[in-house]
Amino acid sequence: MKGIILAGGSGTRLMPLTKITSKQLLPVYDKPMIFYPLETLIQGGVKDILVIIAPQYAGHFLNLLGSGQEWGVKISYEIQDEPKGIAQSFLIADTFIGDDDVALILGDNIYEDDFSSSIRSFEKGAQIFCKKVSDVQRFGVVEFDENGQVLSIEEKPDAPKSDYAHTGLYIYDNSVIEKARHLKPSARGELEITEISDQYRKEGTLKANIVEGCWFDCGTHDSLLEASNHIQKSKQI
Ligand code: DAU
Repeated sequence: MKGIILAGGSGTRLMPLTKITSKQLLPVYDKPMIFYPLETLIQGGVKDILVIIAPQYAGHFLNLLGSGQEWGVKISYEIQDEPKGIAQSFLIADTFIGDDDVALILGDNIYEDDFSSSIRSFEKGAQIFCKKVSDVQRFGVVEFDENGQVLSIEEKPDAPKSDYAHTGLYIYDNSVIEKARHLKPSARGELEITEISDQYRKEGTLKANIVEGCWFDCGTHDSLLEASNHIQKSKQI
């Protein structure tokens, strides 16, 4: 299993903080944000990790993470020239992925859960991780039937069909590269990750898991503060 941390984008919602550095390097309580997704992958046993970054602050990432030696993993880097969508990761990373399966995690997503059993036991198809939230319009939305089967996945719909967000960890088999090659940009000009998961759903190979612990997407000032406060409290227990 290869690992990708997607840590590009322009971070416009966090301006002016993102005039200093990239969103994924900002502090979340006592650590740079990217340490959390990095530790999630490492906990899952992933040892070969590609970090996809924007050109602007590329040097900051190299300075902080280096070769990965500090964590006992191999870290390499690719530049995403423009933020053309999360699913573009698989096109940028096709040589890195090679013939392997891949776990992609967003550089601004923080999880408490341990995903090692999902990562280690993965064989084929796709595994996604869903969380019930109160502001689901901000996310990809996953609709389930009464047996827990996924009925639909929609990116930021105006009329969400459920309260379950499609969170930023995705485990896909090698066919994801071919699936990404056939994607067309959405109305907002991005290659949408939700469309990749939806293709696996249509093939009948999508498994949706529920995230048990807290999950944070640190893309806004409020969610960044909420994540920091939560981590501070959990360290005091
Ligand atoms: O956090 C989970 C959500 O992430 C999912 O529910 C949505 O389906 C998914 O589209 C995404 O929504 P966001 O609105 O949070 O996406 P955002 O544009 O903030 O990008 C998420 C992270 O990926 C962020 O750290 C920036 C990075 N990114 C994003 C894009 C579109 C890139 O590095 N390159 C890109 O082209």
